[in-house]
Amino acid sequence: MTDKYLTLVNAEHPIFRPIDRRELVCVSEDYPDILMERRAAAALRRLLSEIGSDGEIVPVSGWRSNEEQKQIWADTVAEKGVSFARKYVALPACSEHETGLAIDLALKAPEIDFICPDFPQTGICGKFRERAPYYGFIQRYSMEKEGITGISEEPWHFRYVGTPHSLIMVKNGLSLEEYTDRMRKGGRRTLTYRGRMIGKSEAVR
Ligand code: DAL
Ligand code: ZN
Repeated sequence: MTDKYLTLVNAEHPIFRPIDRRELVCVSEDYPDILMERRAAAALRRLLSEIGSDGEIVPVSGWRSNEEQKQIWADTVAEKGVSFARKYVALPACSEHETGLAIDLALKAPEIDFICPDFPQTGICGKFRERAPYYGFIQRYSMEKEGITGISEEPWHFRYVGTPHSLIMVKNGLSLEEYTDRMRKGGRRTLTYRGRMIGKSEAVR
């Protein structure tokens, strides 16, 4: 797969090459320590601005180094046990947070759970979900695809894949595993999106 935004990372597909740190930028001036890949961060900022989030949606975790992912895995196993960790934390080198293309989000609250933040289906978070595919984002882990992704449903974890891929995946109900598999088998011709799309210059540059 030549499109880096479609890179598949899971337990069977560990990170092949770490992201060049010069490609990382902070997602917002208010959260200088939360980084994402440049184009993904720009798309996220535009999306949040379009829905008028105004600080109600909070970034919780963006890019993680391999060392950080190791620490998160070890801490979660120690605090919650290995079966919980397997559901909600990817093994080090197998987390798409290490690519800079994933972001965990929460509804602003006095206390936010770092591993399983609350990101509801309604209100401003519902608006975010509705508009996310137009800006290149998908909810990466859903209940229906647990058997394929190997991760439990995570309503807070969004992955940047870029448009039109995000729109095609949502329209066809495909996980990233299924989509990249179809692409590899030449399914791109049968996977199209004809609906309205936000201009590239607006949404995905
Ligand atoms: N929570 C996701 C699976 C991760 O750790 O990458
Ligand atoms: Zn995540």
